Amino acid sequence: MKKIVIEGGKKLSGNIKISGAKNSAVALIPASILCDEETTIYNVPEITDKHALIEIIKLLNGIVEDQGDALKIDSRNIESVVIPEELASKLRASYYFMGALLGRKKHVEIYFPGGCKIGARKIDFHLKGFQALGATVEEIDDRYVIDAKELKGTKIYLDFASVGATINIMLAAVKATGTTVINNAAKEPEIVNIATYLNNMGAKIKGAGTSRITIEGVKSLHKAIIEVIPDRIEAGTYIIAGALLGENLCIQNVIKEHLNALLSKLLEIGIPITVRHNNLIINSTENKKAVNITTLPYPGYPTDLAQPMTVLLTQCKGTSILEETIYSNRMGQVPYLNSMGADIQVEEQTAYIKGPTALEGNDVVASDLRAGASLVLAGLLAKGTTKISEIEHILRGYEHIIEKLQGVGADIRIIEEEEK
Ligand code: EPU
Repeated sequence: MKKIVIEGGKKLSGNIKISGAKNSAVALIPASILCDEETTIYNVPEITDKHALIEIIKLLNGIVEDQGDALKIDSRNIESVVIPEELASKLRASYYFMGALLGRKKHVEIYFPGGCKIGARKIDFHLKGFQALGATVEEIDDRYVIDAKELKGTKIYLDFASVGATINIMLAAVKATGTTVINNAAKEPEIVNIATYLNNMGAKIKGAGTSRITIEGVKSLHKAIIEVIPDRIEAGTYIIAGALLGENLCIQNVIKEHLNALLSKLLEIGIPITVRHNNLIINSTENKKAVNITTLPYPGYPTDLAQPMTVLLTQCKGTSILEETIYSNRMGQVPYLNSMGADIQVEEQTAYIKGPTALEGNDVVASDLRAGASLVLAGLLAKGTTKISEIEHILRGYEHIIEKLQGVGADIRIIEEEEK
């Protein structure tokens, strides 16, 4: 079993270059199968989710040339075959093949998606969207069978501005006849990235990044390229590392506007940040003030940075209140942080974090991706040795995390340990 081992307390200085966004890449790759020719996606992060998606495209008879950070995908001969449980359940984003295959072949059979266990994670808005476009949806033995004779543009209102539902409906609607309008659409930057890719192929999508997206259906989509935007959550994780231990830690290749909610909170805590073009330079300070944070859809404070933020809040003077409103089970890091010396009480999905508390290394478990990231941050800060198990969750979402942190002075490595 692979584990991450960290000797904590080392200052972090130097440069960390941010990779392409996981949550964009995992939608762009399935979106490629809507194209009737070859497309290239640049700046694809080297994460395990990428390989699971490539496997699915190959299964559907697509040809994928993995050139490292560029993926060339030829989807001319895509066929709609059943996407089996062992592939679909590897990650959440397998569900983007629903919208993409429905748009391309009008028929999808796929087993239930996987992903981090952070709450119910229903996909009813996705399915209702497909139905509104004219598809039938059946659940047969843990798999969805979605079929349409024709997809017709329509008006769809999302009860919640779901990222996944917005993207999936966009994917299904680009080749529908007529115009589809998604009201109360999610506004995350990743959605703009996907819409740009589809528009580069000849789709007619307007309003991505606002709460009203209009998609005028087209007959075919042609050759195109796209670059994955920088990962704002990866950037946020390293920015928080800088707030804990940074000495002129420079986070390179960020889009600052995507990080405004986090940066405002850091300002409130008292962390000095200098902006230089696409780089942010972060220095830790002695006196950090407690703050209150509520997670919200973009442009609010991102749920994916709530767990990493809990570690910084353990170092702030006073009681911070962190309320998670997107998922019902996103506090998996808390018992482990408490075992390292933190003082965090959780009531439902609100954490009350008293600080500052010294942290000491311990053996901990990454219960999900961002809980894992949070434990890496805690390990970097803690006195002594932290050993994290179930690190496959972390490697699903952070490209070269070990090398990037070693490069700025962290004492972190992966070891192979026999299972007891
Ligand atoms: N929801 C429903 N019904 C639906 C869709 C969503 O009830 O049909 C609920 C979910 O249960 C959840 C909330 O709405 O409570 C938000 O879900 P959303 O659809 O916005 O999230 P998602 O598409 O499943 C993506 C990211 C998440 C990120 C969220 C919010 C991917 C693959 N995942 O998930 O990323 O937290 O948007 O920004 O893009 C992560 O990277 O750690 C991660 C979990």
